[in-house]
Amino acid sequence: MSQWSAGRRACAALAVACLLASCDAANTEQSTDLVRQPRGSSSTNSNSPPQEIPELISPTYKVFAANRRGMSFPDRDFSVFAIFPPANFFRAQVVQLGEFPGELPRLIDNSQIELRYSAVADATGSINRTSVTKTNFWTHAKDLYQFLLPASGRINPDEGVHGMVARSQSMPGSSNAPQAFTLFDETKTFTAPWVPITPVDDAGKTNHFPRMKVDAVDKVTGTIVASTTIVVPIAEPMNCASCHATGLVGASRSGVIWSATADRANQGKENVMRLHDALHGVYKGFEAPLMCVECHYSPVADPDGRGPYGFYQERRQRFSISIHAAHGLGRDGATPSTTVPPNIPENGNSTCTVCHGGNLPYFRDSMASAGLLCQDCHGGMIAVAKSPMVGSTTTRTPFIDEPRCESCHTGDEVSHLGSTLVLRKAFEEIDVFATPRTATNRRFAEEPTRIYRTSVGHGGVGCISCHGSPHAIWPVQTGMPDDTIPSQLQGHGGAIIECVACHSGGIAPNLDGPHGLHNIADAGWITDHARFYLANTTSACQTCHGLNLTGGYLSRAASVRTFSLPNGRTVTYAKGAKVGCADCHGMPR
Ligand code: HEC
Ligand code: HEC
Ligand code: HEC
Ligand code: HEC
Ligand code: HEC
Ligand code: HEC
Ligand code: HEC
Ligand code: HEC
Ligand code: HEC
Repeated sequence: MSQWSAGRRACAALAVACLLASCDAANTEQSTDLVRQPRGSSSTNSNSPPQEIPELISPTYKVFAANRRGMSFPDRDFSVFAIFPPANFFRAQVVQLGEFPGELPRLIDNSQIELRYSAVADATGSINRTSVTKTNFWTHAKDLYQFLLPASGRINPDEGVHGMVARSQSMPGSSNAPQAFTLFDETKTFTAPWVPITPVDDAGKTNHFPRMKVDAVDKVTGTIVASTTIVVPIAEPMNCASCHATGLVGASRSGVIWSATADRANQGKENVMRLHDALHGVYKGFEAPLMCVECHYSPVADPDGRGPYGFYQERRQRFSISIHAAHGLGRDGATPSTTVPPNIPENGNSTCTVCHGGNLPYFRDSMASAGLLCQDCHGGMIAVAKSPMVGSTTTRTPFIDEPRCESCHTGDEVSHLGSTLVLRKAFEEIDVFATPRTATNRRFAEEPTRIYRTSVGHGGVGCISCHGSPHAIWPVQTGMPDDTIPSQLQGHGGAIIECVACHSGGIAPNLDGPHGLHNIADAGWITDHARFYLANTTSACQTCHGLNLTGGYLSRAASVRTFSLPNGRTVTYAKGAKVGCADCHGMPR
């Protein structure tokens, strides 16, 4: 029992070292991110105490940061037309840790702290500071984004897309100057929008997962009070040429003069424009380079959030609806049937990855490990295109009507929808338009009016802060880099479950943690859990520990855990082992 006897305060301050002594992953990264900065004091650490006094190595702030999207796929060449500008969104929250036993952590706002990002090398030494020489975006940006910019507007090299009102973010540039996050919102989230990063590092090598360091800087003293490193995922551009290169299925109609441009990607793009012109004849006056979204509204080119605007956008359906409908339907908009094939036939993930991410692991988390496909969450092309064009009476709103975690994680062992605890389709099988299911037991649900990436849960902490980017929900598949973020924050991968990651001063035993979790790996909980069991109905524990309390899917140990029991016995759980009530003593009555 000795590791507990140091007392709650000491134990908590030593956080990882003490409580997670036996955890499985790289604790080593942890210490580099802990910066001491006692509340209300900007003093430097001049009379540094010896290591064994734990209070004084206690960190005061922690940054929870991740890329807001699972992956972006900017065009690399903008000379013909553009679908996506280079634009990654970083989001972060800053938690000020409690300093005294029982003191709660709090999310802090931008009056105290500024967040900044700068490039940092990954383990192989690859670093990505600037995009200037890696894309011709800035050569064409003024033409492409003319319709967004103020009359005198321009986009400077290394600067991201911006609107009339919205501020832009830049790459740090060759001097690696830290850039301040420009947005802060009511969910206490800092966002760096439209950062124009490319998948090419400064040595010219392809790197789809470059790193950025995020620093929290005290606005008064200018000192860095906490840091973390995020993974910034960037895929290859959408490759229209794989079907629209001359002679292929998307450039085969007679009567059209197909492109002979040597660059295959641009040949495909030119053919898309020629096909579009042949079918709709609308490009008169619109010269390359152009943006498809000039006429087909998309929020990905609307930094000011003003919505559909201008003659074409107001009359056309949204870009996502058009592009998925045109490819989910047959030639000339024919309804697919046994004799009419869709322009892109349904064929698992590759239906989508031909455009989204190519061969890269766009979708790379535990749901991918569990064998789910894009269609299990999003439905197929027709579902993504849900609109009158594909026979629906209603239209889905792209980027808003998305699948939800609660659609499959519909509750707990005691109360959930369907026949299994976790479902494998986010909608009812018979619904061809794949409307996301909503759960009645909201234990694992998003906020009703927000989707995953903007929702907050426990204590106002964002879902992303504890779970990571969409499609890269921690734990990610073996070999994927994203789990380095939770490893920095709590010493092991997976969802942020260690209460001490935020409640550094410890907390009294409770059942009010994220999703109704109790204290984890906490001596106080071992001593006190009986009281909670006895004070509540048995179902309070059955919800996660299983109906017969022998351990369930929701009571798996997140890390290797070792408990020394008062009777001298030691109980060890492997990571992922189901914790049951009879593991340490007889089955409670
Ligand atoms: C897997 C094959 C495939 C890929 C990849 C693909 N397309 Fe197509 N696309 C087709 C086929 C087939 C047609 C129908 C051709 C026809 O009608 O002659 C088509 C038609 C179109 C049309 C005309 C639709 C209409 O009804 O007006 C546009 C525009 C278009 N594609 C754009 C794109 C763009 C942009 C990309 C890349 C982001 C892309 N396509 C990628 C297969 C593909
Ligand atoms: C100058 C305005 C304009 C631009 C730029 C433009 N489109 Fe269109 N697009 C149209 C019009 C008009 C239609 C015809 C819609 C109709 O007939 O109802 C159309 C139709 C389509 C369709 C068929 C589905 C539908 O909504 O009717 C697709 C797919 C499409 N466009 C994709 C693209 C792509 C990809 C680009 C960029 C390469 C692009 N468009 C650029 C105006 C434009
Ligand atoms: C022909 C290329 C193409 C294919 C194939 C394709 N997409 Fe897309 N998808 C796009 C483009 C282009 C956009 C960007 C639309 C925008 O900017 O508004 C997009 C955006 C999206 C979005 C975000 C916008 C929204 O509607 O919510 C989702 C979700 C999506 N695609 C899902 C899928 C799924 C699932 C599949 C496979 C069933 C798929 N896509 C296949 C081209 C494609
Ligand atoms: C386990 C469910 C799940 C699976 C499987 C899944 N997605 Fe998603 N996807 C989501 C959720 C949830 C969102 C909304 C996330 C958010 O809040 O931004 C989303 C959003 C998207 C978006 C919009 C992203 C943006 O930038 O805003 C695209 C595009 C997309 N998915 C494509 C795909 C593709 C392609 C696949 C397969 C390779 C896939 N998804 C597989 C759940 C899933
Ligand atoms: C289409 C259904 C579906 C959707 C939607 C879905 N999941 Fe899952 N999820 C699963 C399945 C299936 C598993 C694997 C269950 C198993 O291992 O038995 C899983 C596993 C998980 C795990 C456990 C991973 C582990 O190994 O411990 C987490 C965490 C998770 N999901 C989070 C999320 C989040 C967050 C969202 C929303 C962004 C989400 N899921 C959306 C089906 C889904
Ligand atoms: C403070 C951290 C924290 C926050 C914030 C948080 N979660 Fe979780 N989440 C967890 C932990 C820890 C687990 C694992 C619970 C378990 O194993 O019983 C989990 C599990 C899940 C699961 C998977 C359950 C399973 O089947 O394995 C889903 C889905 C989920 N959370 C969704 C969300 C959503 C949606 C939000 C935002 C509304 C959110 N979470 C906010 C920590 C958090
Ligand atoms: C990512 C940071 C984070 C993690 C991890 C975290 N918490 Fe919290 N917790 C917070 C914040 C922020 C608050 C809000 C304090 C406030 O309301 O001012 C909070 C509040 C609480 C409260 C008091 C408010 C209430 O809801 O009654 C309890 C109890 C609590 N957390 C328990 C837990 C437990 C148990 C765990 C571990 C399973 C945990 N927390 C993990 C950040 C976190
Ligand atoms: C929201 C889900 C959830 C609920 C509700 C829940 N547990 Fe747990 N419990 C867990 C998880 C997950 C673990 C394993 C955590 C770990 O070690 O990573 C666990 C572990 C434990 C442990 C071992 C100590 C430890 O830190 O691992 C005890 C004791 C325990 N639970 C008792 C209870 C009792 C008693 C109740 C009812 C009053 C209860 N639990 C309710 C999820 C839950
Ligand atoms: C990791 C080991 C461990 C696990 C798992 C565990 N317990 Fe315990 N439990 C203990 C210890 C140790 C005690 C004695 C605490 C003390 O007296 O300090 C105890 C005592 C109890 C008591 C009081 C017994 C008595 O005779 O007074 C009850 C009731 C109880 N536990 C219920 C549960 C339930 C319900 C679960 C599962 C949800 C559970 N325990 C899981 C370690 C564990």
